[in-house]
Amino acid sequence: DWTMAAYRETKVREIREQVGDKKVICGLSGGVDSSVAAILIHEAIGEQLTCVFVDHGLLRLNEREQVETMFRDHYNIPLVVVDAEDMFMAGLEGVTDPEAKRKFIGKTFIDVFEEEAKKVGGADFLAQGTLYPDVIESVSFTGGPSVTIKSHHNVGGLPERMNMKLVEPLRELFKDEVRELGRELGLPDMFVGRHPFPGPGLAIRIPGEVTKERCDTLRKADAIYLDEIRKAGLYDAIWQAFAVLLPVKTVGVMGDHRTYDSVCGLRAVTSTDGMTADVYPFDAAFLTGCATRIVNEVQGINRVVYDYTSKPPGTIEWE
Ligand code: XMP
Repeated sequence: DWTMAAYRETKVREIREQVGDKKVICGLSGGVDSSVAAILIHEAIGEQLTCVFVDHGLLRLNEREQVETMFRDHYNIPLVVVDAEDMFMAGLEGVTDPEAKRKFIGKTFIDVFEEEAKKVGGADFLAQGTLYPDVIESVSFTGGPSVTIKSHHNVGGLPERMNMKLVEPLRELFKDEVRELGRELGLPDMFVGRHPFPGPGLAIRIPGEVTKERCDTLRKADAIYLDEIRKAGLYDAIWQAFAVLLPVKTVGVMGDHRTYDSVCGLRAVTSTDGMTADVYPFDAAFLTGCATRIVNEVQGINRVVYDYTSKPPGTIEWE
């Protein structure tokens, strides 16, 4: 019968067969999926694998440092960190359409990976932690007509002409199965339980134009929100929680003066696979506490709202 141990063995064999003696570049996002893919592929082909983590300037607070530490120190898997913030920010200038953002980011990721492939003397394969729901949601909405809801950066966001072939060992799995596989591969629980983070990062959590300044503002608010969630012991009860920064200014009052600043939205959902989701029912005091801290501590935000929309009809990310 079917077990994760057997799945691991099958995949290791398949990866060896597919790759042969060629080189593989694996795009790491720091999330569970790409990390599990990397560790599995490393088990299969060892030194033929190079992991690439792209810092596109759309990461959460301290995320780059956390990923570097984890891969270099704990797993001893060689990691190339590419500083691509300027390139991504320049390309996102003036872009407000969600699909245009996604397409640009997907394409630019590939450009960076192809550059890195050259540097290792030519890699024929690109590995990604694509899951089954990423595939489904990029092509059609379950049960509905065949329309694209969002081009996931590693599926519908891929450019048509790409030189590398894909290695996607998790393509048949749902998130809970990837987590099980991660445990099977010896990943610590704290890591396996990390909330998902999308490849396009903060770009799809800032409706409207993405700028470095907006990213910096959002990073601060998001870190406070997650800090409060961890302190309340709620992190593991939630599938995904994050802040969004709206391109809307409203009037407020701080001390004895008027403010005119941005609105921050907070999102938290429960789910098993990300395909459907329920709103996490925080109590009012918790949300009030978050709002107070964010407005007091983050310059540029003077109002906080909570998103009460399930999926469907909402999606988890705002873009
Ligand atoms: P939505 O917003 O479609 O999100 O309800 C469902 C889950 O997928 C994640 N997501 C992505 N992950 N690349 C990713 O790696 C993407 O382009 C992408 N878009 C959405 C989202 O964070 C949620 O967990």
